[in-house]
Amino acid sequence: METRNNSFLDTPKPRKAVEALSPYSAPLEGRRNLLRLDFNENTIGPSPLVIKALREINREEISIYPEYSGLKEKLVNNLKKQGSGQYIKSSEIGIFNGVDAAINAIFHAYGEHNEMMLTTSPTFGYYTPCAQMRGMQITSIPYEGIDFQYPLKKICEIITQKNPKILLICNPNNPTGTRLNPKKVIEIAKLSTNTLVIVDELYEAFTSDSILPFVNFQKTPNLVVLRSLSKTAGLAGLRIGFAIGHSKVINLVNRVTGPYDVNSFAVIAALAALEDQSYIDSYVNKVLEARDWLKTNLEKHKVKYHISGGNYFLIWPNSGPIETEKKLKENGILVRSMDEKLNLKGSLRVSIGTLQQMKRFWSAFKLIDNI
Ligand SMILES: Cc1ncc(COP(=O)(O)O)c(C=O)c1O
Repeated sequence: METRNNSFLDTPKPRKAVEALSPYSAPLEGRRNLLRLDFNENTIGPSPLVIKALREINREEISIYPEYSGLKEKLVNNLKKQGSGQYIKSSEIGIFNGVDAAINAIFHAYGEHNEMMLTTSPTFGYYTPCAQMRGMQITSIPYEGIDFQYPLKKICEIITQKNPKILLICNPNNPTGTRLNPKKVIEIAKLSTNTLVIVDELYEAFTSDSILPFVNFQKTPNLVVLRSLSKTAGLAGLRIGFAIGHSKVINLVNRVTGPYDVNSFAVIAALAALEDQSYIDSYVNKVLEARDWLKTNLEKHKVKYHISGGNYFLIWPNSGPIETEKKLKENGILVRSMDEKLNLKGSLRVSIGTLQQMKRFWSAFKLIDNI
């Protein structure tokens, strides 16, 4: 077939913004049977109640379209029990095919060509392509100082002077772990009702910095909170996440998704995972225990590191990130180089699992790095 140029077959031209995107590079394949400290996933798997519920799925469940009733109410109940949901109603919850899909849908509903998306750098990598797909202008403000403080003053200035359409706050931030006080987040949202403030709380369970105990979406309707069952509940493979915000905003965002984008397996697993909140809490406590142990050891051996919020930390190996990543992999341990990210040259991001798993990482790392 004839080609119009080197890259396109003779087919209708895609939208310019899409043509300009780099192809999405999915995480590595072949990660099974390794100690996966590269994507901040839960490292021990979901509750036994989840496995039981999935095993008991019957033929009918598979052959009919998914049903979602009860899931939003269950999440609201869990939030209430955690002291987080006194103002939240089930109409303020949207269910998505992972938080990734929620982010994409929010940009689809709100992101207009040439409007500004404001965020920080370095941060989670999926915000930028979602903004680019809509032809938005991206402004990324660097974290400040050697301990990666949130650039609060600059963000507030830009909101008041430039009126961005979307502000994305990753709290705690992936990969720096930077924490922003939830009351400050609400103050930021009050600066301009024209800016939709999205607070990505994927790792909030490890810091307890959620804005949900304080936010009333009737009073701050331009705030949206993102939560997922990927990292704490161990459901990353099933893809389920939530956007929580004013019912009008959630309703609008839901207009740009398919009616059955979240499948029945994910719904059944989510209900079972939320039924066993104590399993999630106990996993979070295990990670926090391992984090304290690591901190003591990194300190003792004078390794350059940065630990703040989240189930991950940054480490600067003597032998460089690429070499160390490779050698750890040879030892069956996956971690991620952050060498390319702004202000993180020379670093690796390591997810934190259980104490036993972190002891395994630490023994391998010490040998590789001659500590
Ligand atoms: C900050 C942040 N937001 C969102 C996501 C995507 O979460 P989900 O698995 O629910 O799509 C990730 C996954 O790594 C993340 O780190």
